Amino acid sequence: MVDTSDEWIRSRTGIQERRILREEGKATSDMAVEAVLPLLEKTGINPGDIDLTICGTVTPDTIFPDTANTINAKIGAKNAWGFDINAACSGFLFALSTGARFIESGKYKKILIVGADMMSSIIDYEDRSTCVIFGDGAGAVLLEAVEDGTGLIDEILKGDGNGREFLHMKAGGSMKPASAETVAGKMHYVYQDGRQVFKAAIRGMVDTVEKMMSQNGLTNESVQWLVPHQANRRIITSVADGLDFPVEKVMLNIQKYGNTTGATIPLCLWEWEDKLKKGDNLLLTAFGGGFTWGTSYLKWSYQA
Ligand code: ACO
Repeated sequence: MVDTSDEWIRSRTGIQERRILREEGKATSDMAVEAVLPLLEKTGINPGDIDLTICGTVTPDTIFPDTANTINAKIGAKNAWGFDINAACSGFLFALSTGARFIESGKYKKILIVGADMMSSIIDYEDRSTCVIFGDGAGAVLLEAVEDGTGLIDEILKGDGNGREFLHMKAGGSMKPASAETVAGKMHYVYQDGRQVFKAAIRGMVDTVEKMMSQNGLTNESVQWLVPHQANRRIITSVADGLDFPVEKVMLNIQKYGNTTGATIPLCLWEWEDKLKKGDNLLLTAFGGGFTWGTSYLKWSYQA
């Protein structure tokens, strides 16, 4: 489709394969349901017990209504309300912190945090600077209260709207509604200035991880896993280098899924779940459109 090569993609991004949702009529919520249903089964929870669903996505099924409520309808979560968080690749981190506040309030007992994106719906497959990177995917976690000192301990979340010029969609919002002209001009796809995003992503993740470690007295030895957003393997290894953090303790699965935006971090947690032990210190870090970025410090709450 574009002038590129397997060698270029593997060496410049680390991506070897990815998943694309091709079934007519299917959307982000359908992938989210595939993540949520096995989670409910595994935890023995009825859909009716869910109080709230928060979905981090930039590819909602429709601009409105939100995808979280559609997920609730599709899984039969009749007693839940929900909403989406639009923070691109930081969507899951922002949703996790938001959900934690609702748990801490004591009013909500069971909250689904979903990260899901059907990036293929907003990618121009004639633009080689974006089309090689993104994939479709969804992941989900369940939040409940604990009283043993585990769970979400701390967060540093950041935003800088000046970064919007480097990563955005040009039309389809209130500034430039969809028209024949915007479609012809390919304005409904991801626009990215890759080099600017690349540099800002490394800086943003290293800064917030360093600060998080210092304010919580963490060291490379006491952190069991770094869980970075999977945008580009070179970004991830540069972050590990910048922190002098051992690469064997960095979750890395971009080779299988590409950049699935809101889904990368929950997909890592899902793949590594069997290796995680109660009390493990995890640092989740992300950077994405907005710009949005940050690091969350999590003490893992259970043994799989
Ligand atoms: N195949 C072959 N050549 C390519 C391709 C491709 N797919 N894409 C770019 N090139 C070329 C460029 O044209 C350029 O050629 P030139 O030197 O003749 O001008 C050369 O490769 C180098 O271009 P760069 O843009 O410097 O390539 P880079 O090594 O930076 O890789 C990439 C590009 C993969 C996009 C990288 O910049 C990147 O990963 N950026 C960050 C992505 C990211 O983190 N996004 C944030 C999350 S997304 C979200 O929030 C929705």
